[in-house]
Amino acid sequence: MRSLYRIAVLLPFLLRVLPVGSVPTKDCAHKVKETVDAPRGWVKHGEPPADHKIALKIGLPQPNFSELEKHLYEVSDPDHARYGHHLSKVEVEELVAPYPESLDTVNEWLSSLGFDDEDMVRSPAKDWITINVPVSKAEEMLNTKYYVWKHVESGDYLLRTTSYSLPSNVHEHIELVQPTTMFGRFKPQRSNIFKSTPFAADIAGVVKTGSTVNAASGVSVDASCNQIITITCLQQLYNAVGFTPSAKDNSIGITGYLEQFANMQDLQSFFADQRPDAVNSTFKVISVAGGLNNQSLAAAGDEADLDVEFAFGLSHPIAPTFFTTAGRPPFIPDLLEPAGDNENEPYLTWLDFILEMPDPPLTISTSYGDNEQTVPFTFAQRACSQFAQLGARGVSILFASGDFGVGDGDENPATQECITNDGTNQTKFIPSFPASCPFVTSVGGTSHIPEVAVSTFFSGGGFSNYFARPSFQDKDVTAYLNSLPKGTYAGLFNPNGRGIPDVSAQSDLFKVFIGGEAFLIGGTSAATPTFSAFISLLNDVRLKAGLPSLGFLNPFLYSKGFAGLNDITSGNNGGCGTPGFNVGCLFTRLPTFRPLIIIFTGVERLGSRQVQMAVCHCKPYIEI
Ligand SMILES: *[C@@H]1O[C@H](CO)[C@@H](O)[C@H](O)[C@H]1NC(C)=O
Ligand SMILES: *[C@@H]1O[C@H](CO)[C@@H](O)[C@H](O)[C@H]1NC(C)=O
Ligand SMILES: *[C@@H]1O[C@H](CO)[C@@H](O)[C@H](O)[C@H]1NC(C)=O
Ligand SMILES: *[C@@H]1O[C@H](CO)[C@@H](O)[C@H](O)[C@H]1NC(C)=O
Repeated sequence: MRSLYRIAVLLPFLLRVLPVGSVPTKDCAHKVKETVDAPRGWVKHGEPPADHKIALKIGLPQPNFSELEKHLYEVSDPDHARYGHHLSKVEVEELVAPYPESLDTVNEWLSSLGFDDEDMVRSPAKDWITINVPVSKAEEMLNTKYYVWKHVESGDYLLRTTSYSLPSNVHEHIELVQPTTMFGRFKPQRSNIFKSTPFAADIAGVVKTGSTVNAASGVSVDASCNQIITITCLQQLYNAVGFTPSAKDNSIGITGYLEQFANMQDLQSFFADQRPDAVNSTFKVISVAGGLNNQSLAAAGDEADLDVEFAFGLSHPIAPTFFTTAGRPPFIPDLLEPAGDNENEPYLTWLDFILEMPDPPLTISTSYGDNEQTVPFTFAQRACSQFAQLGARGVSILFASGDFGVGDGDENPATQECITNDGTNQTKFIPSFPASCPFVTSVGGTSHIPEVAVSTFFSGGGFSNYFARPSFQDKDVTAYLNSLPKGTYAGLFNPNGRGIPDVSAQSDLFKVFIGGEAFLIGGTSAATPTFSAFISLLNDVRLKAGLPSLGFLNPFLYSKGFAGLNDITSGNNGGCGTPGFNVGCLFTRLPTFRPLIIIFTGVERLGSRQVQMAVCHCKPYIEI
């Protein structure tokens, strides 16, 4: 970067046409921007071909993010005068725009490297620049060395580095560059897949029919729902029987990653089985960065099929969209094509895409995530701020809370080590990201009727190590923490962190069709599209009444919306060799049919009933 300085000295008149603040500093040597420890379980596998292309994304700081956050909380708080007054796309973009001097300084740096405007793709807010470069060029720009890393247990590969640098004069003008240090794999969050046991023959015979059980909310549900969860079970349990959405402009989206394809034929089989009035209806497929949706039955994805079947089955006929984002972590490094584009960073790609959409779906459900600690803090914070932008625009974003209780997802509970990546090897509970971002609603799992938190080593939950406890859950989480016997799990979790999950819904024994056959499947992956579909139904009622969409849900769920939820008072989410957190104790309340929801908006009812969803509100109580 010395040359840049020299040009400025030799051609001082140039400075006059450069905007104020972009004067190159004297010391433009590279300085380390970020260093991470490779998460446990990842080993260096080899070097990538120097000419392999990666899409480098450069994130510029968003100096006014706190302003955006303020707007977000005002328009999402049902007690605030601005509730529901969502921001427009342009308003949000203005609030996350970088300082002009950041734009200038970064432009100068990139042009000094030989890039011109045609090489760069900018986000509408200009807070991201994407450039396609060979690995060798990225290494020069970031003064680093990329390696192919292998995840030993799964065999997944990623192209990453554990440290990168930037010229000192651009440091404060670039928040992060990816893909570099981000080792998260964003696994589908579904654990109990009985795929080896096709459903029909083995289970149909044992289902009790004709009798009913009482849900805690006071409603009656078919007894068969304790063995197999169908659309009808969920409609009964959460009070939506007979409700038909009809608002114009309502919409719901499911995201798909990792070559998880949603199969239309499976969806038709599912509809024929559980939602006959939806037979022959289809969903819109939106391809992000060249994502496919292979319709061969052999290519049907269990996660994708589960998500679209339950989300679209419950919300029919609300306009359904399936987003399929390219990027496939388990690439074969030996076949790494020089021209390939396999940097495995699909989340930011999707976020960019969705923020550019003028009218994104009003409810978006995602059942993928990974241990928070595999995601660098800078990445998590930035992705989280992009979710906030969607919330400010009136979009409800829901993520599965994870399927491993307080644990780290090691399939073998005996070896669940729950060890930190920070070089200190401490034992800690491992929360899941993006569920730990306060601007998304994280959905945990229940099972059985009446509902209890789904069994040990399942419903993900705990406390973020990255994100502080947001004010909307201060009261509930503080009360909960105070209820814990003194010293409970001391040092294992961050008592000042954001608590997850926010809500829960049924999550096991879901009857799905995958690859032409019926199976039972479970996971917070099942709970998330379910809860999302009910949010979409509530939006329908609001839109029809001329009210705006619910948008960012959490401030509502932790205040007035709580009255529409059932408290779950039994169950725990073990992991890391502990019983985990126990739900219930503080907010145990009788099921209510008092029309509390009606008081605050007048319309959050489906027909004559309130929606009665399950809630876990991070109210664990542990007896150890
Ligand atoms: C940030 O917001 C303040 C107050 O709304 C405004 O004056 C300022 O210009 C904004 N800064 C940027 C970089 O947009
Ligand atoms: C669905 O479409 C098929 C083929 O067009 C048709 O035969 C069938 O009657 C339709 N079913 C329903 C329920 O609309
Ligand atoms: C679709 O998936 C099938 C089954 O996995 C595979 O054989 C076929 O090549 C795929 N088609 C395309 C276009 O990728
Ligand atoms: C942490 O664990 C790793 C992997 O087992 C080991 O290489 C390293 O030395 C340990 N560090 C400390 C501080 O114990």
